[in-house]
Amino acid sequence: MARRILTGYRPTGKLHLGHLHGNLKQMIVLQEEAECYFFIADWHALTTDYQDPSHMREYTEDMVLDWLAAGIDPDKAAVYRQSDLPEVAEFQLYLSMITPLGWLERVPSFKEQLEQLKGKDISTHGFLGYPVLQAADILVVRADGVPVGEDQLPHLELTREITRRFNFLYGETFKEPQSLLSRSPRIPGTDGRKMSKSYGNYISLTDPPDEIRKKVLSMITDPARRTRMDPGDPEKCSAFQLHKVQTADRLEEIAERCRSAGWGCVECKGILADRVVEALLPFQERRGELESRPGYVWEVMESGLARVKPLARSVLDEVRKRMGID
Ligand code: TRP
Repeated sequence: MARRILTGYRPTGKLHLGHLHGNLKQMIVLQEEAECYFFIADWHALTTDYQDPSHMREYTEDMVLDWLAAGIDPDKAAVYRQSDLPEVAEFQLYLSMITPLGWLERVPSFKEQLEQLKGKDISTHGFLGYPVLQAADILVVRADGVPVGEDQLPHLELTREITRRFNFLYGETFKEPQSLLSRSPRIPGTDGRKMSKSYGNYISLTDPPDEIRKKVLSMITDPARRTRMDPGDPEKCSAFQLHKVQTADRLEEIAERCRSAGWGCVECKGILADRVVEALLPFQERRGELESRPGYVWEVMESGLARVKPLARSVLDEVRKRMGID
């Protein structure tokens, strides 16, 4: 069992159902059984958004509010902001000395993002070093488990490679961290692709009920069900994938009514929308309460920082010693 857990989110604004069912639920469980470090990766956000950092503060607050409202307990997990921990930046510098260029150029997300984020000039030193910064995040607390989505696995693999290289060069110092994939199915967005902020296909945890209903009704279903009388294949329906996590108790019945054309998609989605609205109600109430406490998120991050700081300091002391900089 992993004893020390770390994970970070880039501040991209309000969280959506994909975050909740993918990663966040797992974090909420883990905080009960392990020492947890959850941080806002604002330096990572800068690697792609350095040209317009105007939302950084707002997005950081939104994300922490969403974490807390969803059930992250700041008395159990240390919640902090990456940029408040300069040990991470110093550590990245040391790790960058030992990380071969070829390893970084080979990371799949590096090439993909250069292609996809055409509007942004990210052929920068900072963006190439993204995974080195991530390795510093992880090793600075000596995390042994890192809850992440599938897209992050290559970054975790690189962290392990950097760890082995460090240990090889300077003597056994770090254990190799393991990635912890959540077991829940991939949450599709309204268009059937993975739910993601950048695709604009997401349902936010903070969306009001009518907005949620509208979005659920627009979800892509099995294209074979052109009319009410055509039977469908639930596995080809994005609404059904969401039913799997929101309506697990009625899943058989829902699948059957789809296969037999026993009901229409509008009816099926109506039930789903009700479930999502109902499930988010306590979250939204709690978030409203937290929003009315000015400065609260910053107090949370201050106390989280106080907990991670001594650990990071002691790791850096050892790293410096190993690398001849003490
Ligand atoms: N790269 C991660 C993402 O985009 C965010 C992140 C930064 C992270 N540092 C991390 C995740 C360390 C896990 C551990 O989602």
